[in-house]
Amino acid sequence: MRILVFGAGAMGSLFGSRLSIRNHVTLVGRREHVRAIREKGLVVRGETKGVFYIDAIENVEEYEGYPDLILIAVKSYDTEDAVREIVRRFGKEIYVVSLQNGLDNLDKMKKHLGEDRIILALTTEACTFSRPGEVLHTGRGKTILGSLTEMDMVEKLGEELNLVGFEAEISKDIIRDMWRKAMINACINPLTALLEVENGRLKNPVLFEIVRRVCRECVEVAVAKGLDIEYDDMLKEVEEVIDATSRNLSSMLQSLMRGRKTEIDSINGYICKVGGEYGIRTEVNDLLVKLIRMKEARR
Ligand SMILES: NC(=O)c1ccc[n+]([C@@H]2O[C@H](COP(=O)([O-])OP(=O)(O)OC[C@H]3O[C@@H](n4cnc5c(N)ncnc54)[C@H](OP(=O)(O)O)[C@@H]3O)[C@@H](O)[C@H]2O)c1
Repeated sequence: MRILVFGAGAMGSLFGSRLSIRNHVTLVGRREHVRAIREKGLVVRGETKGVFYIDAIENVEEYEGYPDLILIAVKSYDTEDAVREIVRRFGKEIYVVSLQNGLDNLDKMKKHLGEDRIILALTTEACTFSRPGEVLHTGRGKTILGSLTEMDMVEKLGEELNLVGFEAEISKDIIRDMWRKAMINACINPLTALLEVENGRLKNPVLFEIVRRVCRECVEVAVAKGLDIEYDDMLKEVEEVIDATSRNLSSMLQSLMRGRKTEIDSINGYICKVGGEYGIRTEVNDLLVKLIRMKEARR
C-alpha cells in the first residue's frame, strides 16, 4: 500500500517505520525531522530497532500521486487543521486512520469526511520523540482498529500491522473501546500531571478517591450517551492500568514537562462538554480541566 503519515512525531514515525518494511510510506513532519530523515534515515531505538529510509516531506502539497490511506498522528488539538489540509489535497474519498488519543478526533474528522472513510486505531504502543531523525519505542502494546461502517480497509490495515510486527486486532465496538481508553486517560493523566507523579502514586487512598470520582462522572456521561459501560468494571480497568504502568509518567505529565500543550480538551474537556449536553454534573472533571489549563498557561 501507499501510506502517508500525517504528523511524524513519536507515534507517526514509529508506525511509519515498521509499515515501511512492506509498504511505500511517506512521512509528513516538521522541517528538522524531515531534513534528518532525508540525510540519515529515520533511526528507531528501543523495542523497534533500525534505520528506515523513508520518504519525508513537510507538506501534503509535496506528495506525488494518491495514497491508499493516511495515518493521522498529530496531537488531537491539531486534528482539524490536519484533516482540512488532507481533504484540500486529496479530496473527500481518501481513507484516514486516526492513531490518536481523545474523544473529539472523530467529530473533527466527520466534519470533512464521510463515515465510510474514517478508521480509528487505538494503540497502547508507547514511544517518545528523542531528537530530529530519531524516536524511541519505549513499550510494546496492542492496537485495536475499527470503523463506524463495514470497511475492507480495516481488515487490510489490521493484516498489514500484524505482518510488520505490531499486535493488531479488529474491534467489535470501536466507539465503546475509544471511550474506555479515553476514560482511563481521564482518570490517570490530569492528576499525575498536576501532582507531577508516576502513575502508581494514584493508589494513595486520597488520590484514589479522586480517581473514583472522575471515573464515576465519566461513566455517567458515557451511559447517557448510550454506551454500555459499568462503573465497577471501568474502575477495575483503571486500577489495572495504574498497576501495570505504575513507574510510567503519563503523556500529559510528559507534555507539560516539555512545555507543550496537553490533550485535556479532547479527554476530560470532552467528557464535561457531553455531560453538559445531557445535564450531567462533571464537577471533578471540570476542576481538573481548569487546573491543567492553568498549568499549561505557565509554560
Ligand atoms: N507517544 C505515545 O506513546 C502515544 C501512545 C498512544 C497514543 N498516542 C497518541 O498519538 C497522538 C500523537 O502523539 P505523539 O506522542 O506522537 O505526539 P508528537 O510526538 O507531538 O507528534 C505529533 C507531531 O505532528 C507534528 N505536526 C502537527 N501538525 C503538523 C503539520 N501540519 N505538518 C507536519 N507536522 C505536524 C507535530 O509537530 P509540532 O510538535 O511542531 O506541532 C509533532 O511532531 C496523540 O493523540 C497521542 O495521544 C501517543
